[in-house]
Amino acid sequence: MYIFKAAVVGAGFMGAGIAQVITYSGLPVVLKDVDQKMLDKGMEQLRGIYQRRVDSGKMSAGEMQEKVSLVIPTLTYDEFSDVDIVIEAVPEVMSVKKKVFAELDEVCPEHTIFASNTSALSISEMGAATKRPQKMIGMHFFSPAHVMKLVEIIPGLDTSQETIDDVVMFAESLRKIPVVVQECPGFLVNRLLMPYLGEATFALQEGAATAREIDETMVKFGWPMGPFTLMDMLGIDVVYHTAKYLGEEYGVEIPPLFEMMYKAGRLGEKAGAGFYGYGDQTDEPVRAMIKQLQDEGKVPTGTEFSWQRLMMPMINEAIQCVTENIAPPDKIDMAMIAGTGMKYGEERMGPLQLADVLGLDVVLAELERLRAQFGNRFRPARLLKTKVRAGHLGKKVGKGFFEYTT
Ligand SMILES: NC(=O)c1ccc[n+]([C@@H]2O[C@H](COP(=O)([O-])OP(=O)(O)OC[C@H]3O[C@@H](n4cnc5c(N)ncnc54)[C@H](O)[C@@H]3O)[C@@H](O)[C@H]2O)c1
Repeated sequence: MYIFKAAVVGAGFMGAGIAQVITYSGLPVVLKDVDQKMLDKGMEQLRGIYQRRVDSGKMSAGEMQEKVSLVIPTLTYDEFSDVDIVIEAVPEVMSVKKKVFAELDEVCPEHTIFASNTSALSISEMGAATKRPQKMIGMHFFSPAHVMKLVEIIPGLDTSQETIDDVVMFAESLRKIPVVVQECPGFLVNRLLMPYLGEATFALQEGAATAREIDETMVKFGWPMGPFTLMDMLGIDVVYHTAKYLGEEYGVEIPPLFEMMYKAGRLGEKAGAGFYGYGDQTDEPVRAMIKQLQDEGKVPTGTEFSWQRLMMPMINEAIQCVTENIAPPDKIDMAMIAGTGMKYGEERMGPLQLADVLGLDVVLAELERLRAQFGNRFRPARLLKTKVRAGHLGKKVGKGFFEYTT
C-alpha cells in the first residue's frame, strides 16, 4: 500500500520530530494534540529544525515554507478520514495510548495502519484493544527523530505481514533504516544498551573509577560518547524507569544509584544536574550518594573497571537475542550501529561482530571471570558456549556469528 497522507498524534518532543521527518520526505501530515500550547510548541520545534537547515545553507527559505505547509496542526480528528498511517506519540502510559487508538478506530478508514512510537509498552496489547490488531505495529524512532537513522519496527502477535512490509517501505521512504524486531521488553536497542549502562553505574558506585574516567575509556574504545554523558542526555528519569522495567522483566538487579539520583531530581542535562553538574552545579551530591551506599555496605568496594566489564554484558544480551530470534545477527549489529553510533576503534561495529573479532572463546572466558567476581548477571548465554564447544570461535577461524574469508 502506498502512503499518501500520514498523521501523528501527540505533538510533543517525539511527535513534532516525526512530523518533521515525514514532511521532509514530501508527504502531508496531520499533527494532532489535545493541548493548543503543546501543539504550538511542537510546530515551533518543527520550524526550528527546518530553520537550522536554512541557516546553514542546506535549504532555501522557500523550500522550508513548502515543507512546513505540509503540516496540518489540529486539535480535532476532522482530517483523519483519508490518512493511510497514524503514528501515535502520546505519553508512555498504556491507558492513554489505548484510549487514543479507540478514538482512531472510529475516525480512520479501515485500511489505516496504526503505529505506536512506544519505547517499551506491548504492541500486542495495544492491538488487542483495537478493531484492527492486524494493522497495529510498533514504529520506534530514536531521539532526536530528525537525526537518528534507526527505526525499530515491532510487529505484535496479530500484525499481518502486509502491515510489516508497508511500514518497512514507509520507513525507507523517510530515509530511515528500519529493522524489524520481535516484541520483547526494551525491543532491541534499549534491551542491549541497558546492561551496558547498568554496568557502568555499578562500577561507578563501587568506586572502581569516576564517571569521567569511565566515559573517557569508552570514548577511546570507540563510542561517540561515554555512558554517563549519554545517560545525562537521555534523562535519568527515562533511564531509571527503563532499567526498573527491564530489571523486573529479565530478572536482573539494577544499580541503586539510579533510584537515588531520580529521587534527588538529578535528572540529567535538562535538570542542570545528573551524573555531571552543569552550569553552576557540580557532581558533589553524586559522590556523596556513592559514599553513602558504600558506608552502609550496600555495594562492594575496590572492584575493577575495564571496558570488558561494560561490553561483555551487551555482547551476552545480543547473543541471547539471537537465541530468541529477536532479529538476525546482521540486523542486530546494524540496529546497534545505527541506533547508538557504536564503533570499535575506528570501525563501525555491532556487538556480535565485536565478539567475533575478540574471539568467542575469549568472550566466554571473560564472562566466566566476571561472573566469578560479580555474579549471575554475567552468566554466559548458552549459544555462546555451544559455539565455543563447536569451534566456531569467530574471525580467527573464519566462523562465529558471521563467516569470514581468511
Ligand atoms: N523522548 C524520547 O527520547 C523518546 C524516544 C523514543 C520514543 N519515545 C516515546 O514517544 C512517546 C512520546 O514521548 P515524548 O517524549 O514525545 O512525550 P511528550 O510528553 O513530549 O509529548 C506527548 C504529547 O502528547 C500529547 N497528548 C497527551 N494525551 C494526548 C491525547 N489523548 N491525544 C493527543 N495528544 C495527547 C501531550 O499534550 C504532549 O504534547 C512516548 O511513548 C515515549 O516513550 C520517546
